Amino acid sequence: MPQAGRARPGSHGPEAVADRVTWVGALDPDLRTFDIILKTANGTTYNSYAVRGSEGVAIIDTVKQEFTVDFLAKVEAVAGYDEITTLVLNHLEPDHTGAVPEFLRRAPHVEICVSPRGLQVLKALLKDRFDDYKVTVVRTGDTVSLGDRTLRFLTTPYVHWPDTQCTYLEEQNLLFTCDLLGCHYCDGRLFNDKVGDFRFSFDYYFDHIMRPFKRYVGEALDLIEPLNIDMIAPGHGPVLRAHPRDYITQYRRLITKRLASETGDLKTLLIFYVSAYGATAQMAEAITEGAAESDDVRVSLFDIQGGDVTPFIDLIEEADGLVLGTPTINGDAVRVIWDMLSSLVDIETKGKLGAAFGSYGWTGEAVNMVEGRMQGLKMRVPEKGLRIKMHPTTDELEECRDFGRRLAAHLAGRPMEREIDMSALLGG
Ligand SMILES: Cc1cc2nc3c(=O)[nH]c(=O)nc-3n(C[C@H](O)[C@H](O)[C@H](O)COP(=O)(O)O)c2cc1C
Repeated sequence: MPQAGRARPGSHGPEAVADRVTWVGALDPDLRTFDIILKTANGTTYNSYAVRGSEGVAIIDTVKQEFTVDFLAKVEAVAGYDEITTLVLNHLEPDHTGAVPEFLRRAPHVEICVSPRGLQVLKALLKDRFDDYKVTVVRTGDTVSLGDRTLRFLTTPYVHWPDTQCTYLEEQNLLFTCDLLGCHYCDGRLFNDKVGDFRFSFDYYFDHIMRPFKRYVGEALDLIEPLNIDMIAPGHGPVLRAHPRDYITQYRRLITKRLASETGDLKTLLIFYVSAYGATAQMAEAITEGAAESDDVRVSLFDIQGGDVTPFIDLIEEADGLVLGTPTINGDAVRVIWDMLSSLVDIETKGKLGAAFGSYGWTGEAVNMVEGRMQGLKMRVPEKGLRIKMHPTTDELEECRDFGRRLAAHLAGRPMEREIDMSALLGG
């Protein structure tokens, strides 16, 4: 017995989702990994929609390239190419634009509507054929008329590419959001009130695709929330026709700080370390002592040897500063530190304070490597990483305390004067 709602690729024909709005997308139930990083236990859908007005038909987004034939068959079932006047591209990632070149070969006369940043990606997509087509750049408030139907655009960049936008079908309170409010969940029953329970997938999609762009998601929600919305038609997953606003509310919840704020105006500094023989651990404790002298900063210290870093990502997301300590082992930082750094791609790190420290035996590469990665994550790294050869002496522990004091001062917005030994500089 086939599982309820499960469909084979190409087995699902066009389906009306609202008056004169038809789903012409593709089902991909067997996909198990998306964009390298996402697990898709239920596969996904590439949603495309046809909107029929009295003076034209618009196609909203297309599908992944390998589903082009399937997609065009659905389009042809609902409209002749000569009737199609508009192609709206809400986002130009290949899973939504794979079928665009072939579609344009059949409907070269259409007006292509893209956001300002979408224009750049469209040029890269169409290469030397770009000039053959009519392209209109649309911004928030711009409209395209299909006669008795009107499409209004909302520029919503970075949810999750720079080019993303939403399109609002005014007369039917229907919002096409592409990746925003979407998820990877393939179910031939198409609608949120018919498909299986996909809430896990909705949140998972947010966590891995939207979370690093929380600030921009907030700006997009600010534009969307005032609209009358009867239905949300995303680019992946179920069409949200039952309680669509609940999904917007859930996005609001997901972009809101998760941890109760106990810190008030205090800045938060998190220090994580690993240590085989205790040298880096001693440094970590001294740095913590130094930073904790500041009344403006709340410092937390964690030994993450052999641990799972996942639980700390929420903490780091909300913290103002992150300090990582690692010895150099075989010319490198320890794996759990790299695990933590690679997990930070799920959150916004730009502008967060970063610093590195660690003990070493001879060459001590780890600290520089960690610092380099922090800079790659666009963190602010105001202090050169602190390296100490083998176990720290009493003086070196005081150096660590000073390092902590200076980091706290940077966080509190009052960088400390550094005492410069002029005689050492002059070789005296
Ligand atoms: C297996 C192993 C590999 C090491 N590889 C390096 C290395 O490549 N470069 C280096 O400078 N020190 C290396 N060291 C020395 C450590 O970095 C040094 O002992 C350091 O003080 C350890 O700090 P910890 O007590 O915080 O673990 C290595 C030590 C061990 C045990």
